[in-house]
Amino acid sequence: MTATDAHGNLKESLLALFPEEHQIAEACRILSPLHQRSILLDGEMHVWKGETRPVFSPMCVRGADGSLTHVELGSYPMTGIAEADAALAAAERAYDHGRGQWPTLSVAERIACVQNFTNQIIAHRREIVNLIMWEIGKSLADSEKEFDRTVDYINATIAELKQLDNGNSRFQIVDGTIAQIRRSPLGIVLCMGPYNYPMNETFTTLIPALIMGNVVVFKPPRFGVLLYYPMLEAFRSAFPRGVINIVYGQGSVVVPHVMASGKVNVLALIGSSTVADQLKKAHPKSNRLRAVLGLEAKNAAIILPDADVELTVKECIAGSLSFNGQRCTAIKMILVHQAIAERFLRRFCEEISKLKIGMPWEKGVTLTPLPEMNKVAYMNDCIADAVGQGARVLNEGGGTSVETLFYPAVVYPVKEGMKLYREEQFGPLIPVAPFEDIETALEYVISSDHGQQVSIFGTNPDQIASLIDPLVNQVCRVNINCQCQRSPDIFPFTGRKDSAEGTLSVHDALRAFSIRTMVAAKQTDATKTLLDAIVLGHKSNFLNTHFIL
Ligand code: G3H
Repeated sequence: MTATDAHGNLKESLLALFPEEHQIAEACRILSPLHQRSILLDGEMHVWKGETRPVFSPMCVRGADGSLTHVELGSYPMTGIAEADAALAAAERAYDHGRGQWPTLSVAERIACVQNFTNQIIAHRREIVNLIMWEIGKSLADSEKEFDRTVDYINATIAELKQLDNGNSRFQIVDGTIAQIRRSPLGIVLCMGPYNYPMNETFTTLIPALIMGNVVVFKPPRFGVLLYYPMLEAFRSAFPRGVINIVYGQGSVVVPHVMASGKVNVLALIGSSTVADQLKKAHPKSNRLRAVLGLEAKNAAIILPDADVELTVKECIAGSLSFNGQRCTAIKMILVHQAIAERFLRRFCEEISKLKIGMPWEKGVTLTPLPEMNKVAYMNDCIADAVGQGARVLNEGGGTSVETLFYPAVVYPVKEGMKLYREEQFGPLIPVAPFEDIETALEYVISSDHGQQVSIFGTNPDQIASLIDPLVNQVCRVNINCQCQRSPDIFPFTGRKDSAEGTLSVHDALRAFSIRTMVAAKQTDATKTLLDAIVLGHKSNFLNTHFIL
């Protein structure tokens, strides 16, 4: 359905988009709820007999009377402090101060374990994709993309590690010192991913952390817990015991407790800066903690007077509304030059009205139900706040909602003081602010608390160049005539200010989860004989000149 089809009856039409149970295609159905009762701790599956939390989908089924019922997907263990302590203790034993089997294994053997894991989860692709779709409401096509992109990321990580390790498979002699330098693990990694990319973003830290020889305590995201159930056996069987341990339960209780133990060496979090800040402070020895953080953003699109309107509209739609705007990289503010504002907004609203809204398994759907139950209320609040201060919803039906389906709203003109001006809406709300002087647009980015990316739309090389130079020192990716995004994953993904700490990419993540370590000796005959004996006798996994093919 599109707003144009719906005319005045948008609310009724939105309601009708929720299917009756029999209308859900067989291939996409959750046949029976998945009640997870096993937890993976210390290499073993334990049966959980304690409290559980039910999981409901953002998708509802419609009854004959028009009532909506959220589909029950299953439940998972609400493990607590005791299990978190057990997970930490298992991780400590597996790492064993760097003497454990996993951190001392050869790189080639660790790669083989990750490959084994990957082959096992590929066998569960359909089930995992279906759970991504049902748990977070991501379209089937995008859920498939998320799974496949993750497998590609793992394969690229393996290729990159081979290259990195092979490059270090040699001795260097400088000023009479013989040395071999490699990258070693850091210890225990606490890994937490976000609900919008519950598999992909989690694995972009989890896999590099593991493959570099660290051990992991992993807390699945708020939404997207059950999708890990089909992976438990692969985690258990592919890695030595205690290398990966999963904790569930109330994040605000369990996670600070884990941090306060002082045993975590790396905090890998894709989430909010407030949480990151609190967790770092909970660690008793901050000098022992490395943080790899992907945080919130408020990426702006700056549209110059000579921008190609059609191209700009297309990119701004993809940038602001892919997965309902629930991407950290989404365009969350549009700054448009007054000279082009009217033309841009007219075409932008026209194109929004053509977007298909519906259930995630429908072909060609863009807008789908939102997993956060209080999100619709928050967005209504943002609209009311903006309207109360003089803005309007420009597109027909914008802001209409039924349960978790929210029809995107273009809000204009948004200005300083409105929630939408600064807050990360993380949903299908598009604030637009006009500007006359380019300084105003620049000042918006400079004064923002965030510094991830920006998109510039225009055709004048002088003007674009004059924006690139100041903006590259404000954000970490300046996109020209295209939307903001993370991919390709080979490129660095990071941000300034409250948007990130550390850089992720296939290459950079391997560095983030390891530290350069060297073995050094004086260049004497006795040393050379000793080193030869170690290397030629294949006695060390660190000190060697092996080549991984
Ligand atoms: O939520 C943040 C994701 O990393 C976005 O990735 O820009 O490739 O969709 P993407």
